Amino acid sequence: MDYEINDITLAEDGKARIEWAERFMPVIQSIRRRFLLKKPLRGIRIAADIDITAESAVFMRTLTAGGAHVMVVRADNAHTIQDDTAASLVKHYKIPVFALHKNATHADYTHIHKVLDTKPNIIIDSGSGLTTFIHKSRKDILEYITGGVEETTTGVRRARAMEYAHALKYPVIAINDSRTKYIFDNKHGTGQAAIDGILRATNILFAGAIVVIAGYGWCGRGFAQCARGFGAHVIITETNPITALEAHADGFEVLPMMDAVKKGTVFITATGNKHVLTADHFRKMKNGAIIGNIGHSDVEIDIPALQKITKNTRQMRRNVIQYSLGTRKLYVIGNGQILNQIAAEGHPAAVMDISFANQAFSIEYLKRYASKLERKVYSVPVDIDENIALMKLNACGVAIDAVTRVQKKYLADWQ
Ligand code: NAI
Repeated sequence: MDYEINDITLAEDGKARIEWAERFMPVIQSIRRRFLLKKPLRGIRIAADIDITAESAVFMRTLTAGGAHVMVVRADNAHTIQDDTAASLVKHYKIPVFALHKNATHADYTHIHKVLDTKPNIIIDSGSGLTTFIHKSRKDILEYITGGVEETTTGVRRARAMEYAHALKYPVIAINDSRTKYIFDNKHGTGQAAIDGILRATNILFAGAIVVIAGYGWCGRGFAQCARGFGAHVIITETNPITALEAHADGFEVLPMMDAVKKGTVFITATGNKHVLTADHFRKMKNGAIIGNIGHSDVEIDIPALQKITKNTRQMRRNVIQYSLGTRKLYVIGNGQILNQIAAEGHPAAVMDISFANQAFSIEYLKRYASKLERKVYSVPVDIDENIALMKLNACGVAIDAVTRVQKKYLADWQ
């Protein structure tokens, strides 16, 4: 089996990590039991470009249980690769992995080509990196691809941009549009993981901190709720008036960033947008301000602009760099890259259980129906979304009521 990882001797550590995560993933386990029996993915080749974590390893094992041939690569975001997990995937589960943890921010094209040379039928993507690469540089394999699944907000936005430009050449299912994805993964998962990342990086006290969050979308909402729970005073900046009004009604202070910079002690971007914090903002921030990002890409904080106005830098902690601007010092976590993955371990397994269940069901759906789909971005079918919620509720031992016949009739009656 061909593979390229950092260190195969780490496999035992990786296996323990994978088994630990699996304990909190009852939905994906139940899907795997069915996949083992029915083999619904028999014969398909899947190329996955996702974070290589214990949770995604549980997911990869589930796909192979369904009969798929899976190859894993992490081309950009090489810091989101757990070398021990990669080693275990190769050694214990015979899944080819082409991914090495390193601090590079550029994509490793040799690995991508190796995986794409196998002519995959389904693409698993997180950020649309692989999808855009195929459309730009590997058009030769488009004829083999029946569809793709895209995990995150930023990737769905890019896939939609491709659809609108008539550039998209196969159907993509937007996992992020599923309610069971964004409510749990983006909101609760990122909320907690962001706190975890900031604490591991800085060990600050949240109680009494003035935390400015740019973007009150699903990730911003989750983090705002967690930061408030820890005793922080939370300020929200937004560009969408309805979302800003929601933040205001939820009891948060809402300000333009130019005003928030004068008050905040911690700044976290969660917009999926570019240059949310710029030189104009850095110049006005208080001495000692801590800055980080939980959006997908490292463009939310304009680090090159910060470097330009900085006299000197100093590594203060493993994931914290001090920028000296005259008498003031600012501290950036993880170079502005997604901090819950840089400084912590990503989302809790219990959350990824639901996200990967959406992926597994959607891949099964693509295997069945891709030929009927157009070259568009599709949402996860509502019945899949609701079924996943039911499965998770079941696993948590939570029962709910069902709509009665009388109620159904009443709800359908316009008179
Ligand atoms: P969302 O679309 O729900 O929210 C983004 C919010 O940012 C919107 O309300 C928008 O109006 C606001 N916004 C846009 N530009 C802004 C600006 N210049 N200033 C202030 N607000 C602005 O998106 P979601 O799901 O919250 O995702 C945000 C980012 O986080 C994306 O890049 C996504 O891929 C990423 N993400 C990160 C995760 C993690 O583990 N850290 C997990 C899931 C998503």
